[in-house]
Amino acid sequence: MKEDLKRILAEAKERILTTKSLPDLQNLKSSFLGKKSELSQLMMKLRELTPEERPAFGKAINDAKGVLDTLITKMYSRLKDAEINRQNKDMSVDLTMPGRSLNKGSLHPLTLVWREIEDVFISLGFEIAEGTDIEDEFHNFDALNTPQDHPSRNLADTFYVENKQLLRTHTSPVQIRTMETHEPPIRIIAPGRAYRNDKIDATHSPVFHQVEALYVDENVTFADLKDTLNQFVVKMFGPGTKSRIRPHFFPFTEPSAEIDISCVGCGGSGCRICKDSGWIEMGGAGMVDPNVFEKVGIDSEKYTGFAFGLGMDRIAMLKYNIKDIRVLFENDLRVLKQFRNENR
Ligand code: DAH
Repeated sequence: MKEDLKRILAEAKERILTTKSLPDLQNLKSSFLGKKSELSQLMMKLRELTPEERPAFGKAINDAKGVLDTLITKMYSRLKDAEINRQNKDMSVDLTMPGRSLNKGSLHPLTLVWREIEDVFISLGFEIAEGTDIEDEFHNFDALNTPQDHPSRNLADTFYVENKQLLRTHTSPVQIRTMETHEPPIRIIAPGRAYRNDKIDATHSPVFHQVEALYVDENVTFADLKDTLNQFVVKMFGPGTKSRIRPHFFPFTEPSAEIDISCVGCGGSGCRICKDSGWIEMGGAGMVDPNVFEKVGIDSEKYTGFAFGLGMDRIAMLKYNIKDIRVLFENDLRVLKQFRNENR
């Protein structure tokens, strides 16, 4: 029996030390230490020994089990380490691989002109004012001296929401909101969205952008208006660009005018962009009507002011040679990507 124990122990050691995998080791563990193992069977045979021999031999078997158990535990951690090392190696980083390029965004052409317009007017001493897209009739029409029966109030032209609220049809209500809350001198621009119930085509969109300007102080004159417009168009479209005004009518200004700039395509000699007229329409302007001052509680005997509103989509289209206003709203990435280098 002693010989058997020796043989079993030697064989078990040999096989444990040469195992290559964790599942194999698991199998060896049950075959050498499990209930049906040779060692367990030896235990059963103890009763064949004399009572004097039994304790020593029983102890020898238990010691052998202990030795094998320790060996298996050691082998287990060795194999486990090897496996982890192998996994790490599989996942290791190849520093020579080319990096993944990030898809960098670009600013929308409207955002670009929006920021540029703000910069130009800030350099001329204006501040930026903001209103709200949802307005009431008072700020959008009444305070701007728009008669009750004016066609622009019509459902067919204006988007009304609940409770007589509406989507502002121009940025002019920001003039009113600013004058309600500020004393002259006031010098602001208000860029933003405006909404009209227009059919979509190459030059119309139900959502569009305007920039409003308002300058109120003592002794503000029409000459100030002309000068501000001239400075703006030169800064925006380059030296040599001219502005001109033509008589027109708006309820909130008196006198009122429409603003043109010399054509950015041909410089004024006539081309397809300006339909051979040499001029491109940009918006409306005028001297603030005394009725408007009265609505906001500004003394029209003491103060005068000019205002104008320009189409920002128009400005973006001219600056970036975009022929169709829908391009600005469709957000086709192939188009927007072309503005990548203009990031500011
Ligand atoms: N609000 C006008 C429009 O939507 C544009 C305009 C005209 C604005 C004259 C003004 C102005 O401030 O003085 O067409």
